[in-house]
Amino acid sequence: MPYKVLIRSEIEPYHTIIPMIEQRAEIVRWNPLEPQPPAELLRTIEGVYNYGHYAFTAEYMDLMPELRVISNYGVGVDHIDLQAAQERGIPVGNTPKILDGATADITFALLLAAARNLIQGDHFARGPDFVAYDPSFMLGQEVHHQVLGIIGLGSIGYQVARRALAFDMTVLYHNRNRNPKAEADLGARYVELDELLQQADFVTLNMPLTDQTRGMIGQRELGLMKKSAVLVNAARGGVVDHDALLETLQNGGIYAAALDVTEPEPLPRNHPLLALDNLVIIPHLGSATHQTRQIMAERSVGNLLAGLEGRELLSRIV
Ligand code: DGY
Repeated sequence: MPYKVLIRSEIEPYHTIIPMIEQRAEIVRWNPLEPQPPAELLRTIEGVYNYGHYAFTAEYMDLMPELRVISNYGVGVDHIDLQAAQERGIPVGNTPKILDGATADITFALLLAAARNLIQGDHFARGPDFVAYDPSFMLGQEVHHQVLGIIGLGSIGYQVARRALAFDMTVLYHNRNRNPKAEADLGARYVELDELLQQADFVTLNMPLTDQTRGMIGQRELGLMKKSAVLVNAARGGVVDHDALLETLQNGGIYAAALDVTEPEPLPRNHPLLALDNLVIIPHLGSATHQTRQIMAERSVGNLLAGLEGRELLSRIV
């Protein structure tokens, strides 16, 4: 008899996911923006596959007494109540490590785009105003040989630091715990948060969203940064206070910001941040490559099936 799996997603999952799950399980779909499926159906659910960032709370878990695995497509699990899952003995799987390279690449792409006016330059070069080459136009910030401050030096931050070395950058970092490997391998230097913000020409946010990191970059922290500095958020929108960021960018408190993520996501279409020239923004593309998405699909479906069969998950967070 096939397992019963609930896929919780507003959108169609990456194209290889459903065929893989269908081989082993009967699928129930739940768009979180629509009313929940009937209670008697939820009572039969054995596995939940979470695609996207909709909250998965204790209340939902309690509607599914047969639930024995929650698998998340992605590494960040801030939308899942991990404590509730743990208390109920439900393992939660995610996709760590396999997206580190892709996410570090996008962190660096954003850093370069904001520093060197790539997006504005692209728009200008296509428009009617580009009639003559002007050497004193659109001057950006030098990247090579500058100071990079990484907040959150886990496995994604480590990959960001590696890329920075190729640009001859000095790497500072701040993290919950020291990262001896990054210090030994890459010469990354641990500093307190304030020192990092004051010294860095580029600050990248690569930490998970937790109770400790929510709102970590606010008015005070932005105020410590250099006026020439660039802030890159490739973590979660919730780690930055968007009102403070707006005010800082409007007042020239920093040179530019580049965001892969926001809160809410997407921002309302009339949000004032979207009107700023010194902001680069992309729609949460950190791990969005064909190759990484496929490996994430395999890992997350592997976690789901392992949980259903009572085996240890390939990547288990709790
Ligand atoms: C992740 O893996 O957490 C990405 O942000 C996609 O959810």
